[in-house]
Amino acid sequence: MFEKFEPTPQDPIIKLMGMFREDPRDDKIDVGVGVFRDNNGQTPIMQAVRMAEDRLHDQQTTKAYVGLAGDEVFNTEITKLVFGHDADMDRIRAVQTPGGCGALRMLSDMLYRIASDRKFWVSDPTWGNHYPIFRQSGFEVDAYPYLNRESKTVNVDALMEKLSTLGKQDIVVFHACCHNPSGAELQPGDWDDIAKVVAKNGIFPYFDMAYQGFGNSLEDDAYSIRTMAKEVESMVVASSCSKNFGLYRDRVGCSLLLGESKETADIARAHILSNARSSYSMPPDHGAALVGLIMTDPELKMNWENELGEMRARMLSLRNKMSIVLKEKSNSDRWDFIADHRGMFSLLVLTDEEVESLRNDHGVYAVAGGRINIAGLKDDDQLNRFADALISVTR
Ligand SMILES: Cc1ncc(COP(=O)(O)O)c(C=O)c1O
Repeated sequence: MFEKFEPTPQDPIIKLMGMFREDPRDDKIDVGVGVFRDNNGQTPIMQAVRMAEDRLHDQQTTKAYVGLAGDEVFNTEITKLVFGHDADMDRIRAVQTPGGCGALRMLSDMLYRIASDRKFWVSDPTWGNHYPIFRQSGFEVDAYPYLNRESKTVNVDALMEKLSTLGKQDIVVFHACCHNPSGAELQPGDWDDIAKVVAKNGIFPYFDMAYQGFGNSLEDDAYSIRTMAKEVESMVVASSCSKNFGLYRDRVGCSLLLGESKETADIARAHILSNARSSYSMPPDHGAALVGLIMTDPELKMNWENELGEMRARMLSLRNKMSIVLKEKSNSDRWDFIADHRGMFSLLVLTDEEVESLRNDHGVYAVAGGRINIAGLKDDDQLNRFADALISVTR
């Protein structure tokens, strides 16, 4: 049977992880992989998660199935976290999924059942897994303009112009905050304008929210979604707890939908559940149970929010330091944009040769195009070495 297979290309980030592991150099630097690291280079288990795990261990009495929609406490809490406390809860439905990827896929599979003739639009550039996920659901996927590769800011004019040409045949994927890979953010005023044109043209908005709390705050990072929810009749959001709860391997995500009415929301939810039943059936319990415990216990919740705030502060401080160090060393303002970006990533817009030279000559592992994970750096000599390497390869 399997001799019929042609080799399939490996995901570039997974490939990079393997190369980094095999590199024998002691001073190698990993700014490729998208996980948060503290200043010791560790991806810590958050304190609130540890405390919730202790409680869960003591309290949980069964491992019986939870159900197709997963943990309903989790679903309710994520709904409030994403849409805010004053959202129209009657029209919102949530289904726990295996990670943010699971949420993305469940939502696009659900949409394919009723909108297979529509086209998906993702930002240029976007996270590498968007194309395969939406294509695997069956959709045609194309890109809308997003990053100005000169200024490393969002090309708002080009984006708005493109949106003005799209309509009822289109599903547009937005990064809710902390754009991956670019780090370039839309501002609240931009989201106001985007929501208006999306509603006016009948575009279907599809949000990917993988970094809530990594940008400016839990509330500010949700502005995009909450603004859109006030303007449109229906939309979807794929939310992930991998980063903001540090639950990467526990696979915790949520498919959220806003329907035109209570009735249409219920029916759409049922279609997600029927897709889930025929693939993984039920989502894993452990991580979502932890999130549910944390969000419903004031002490755990405060602890979580504080630690998330510290993680965010580390990323912002690294951004500021990096842009100052690069300014001093290069004697130019070429890298100032790093301080203005948000989230873990910045796209430095490097050539293949520059990325290769970073890796081969300096042991610095960045993703193609020069996507760096700012949280992969230690705030010590490593930051300086990274800056030297970057200046050397781009001179
Ligand atoms: C933009 C974006 N969306 C979704 C995800 C999905 O994350 P996960 O499936 O690990 O929850 C990621 C993770 O890297 C991401 O960067």
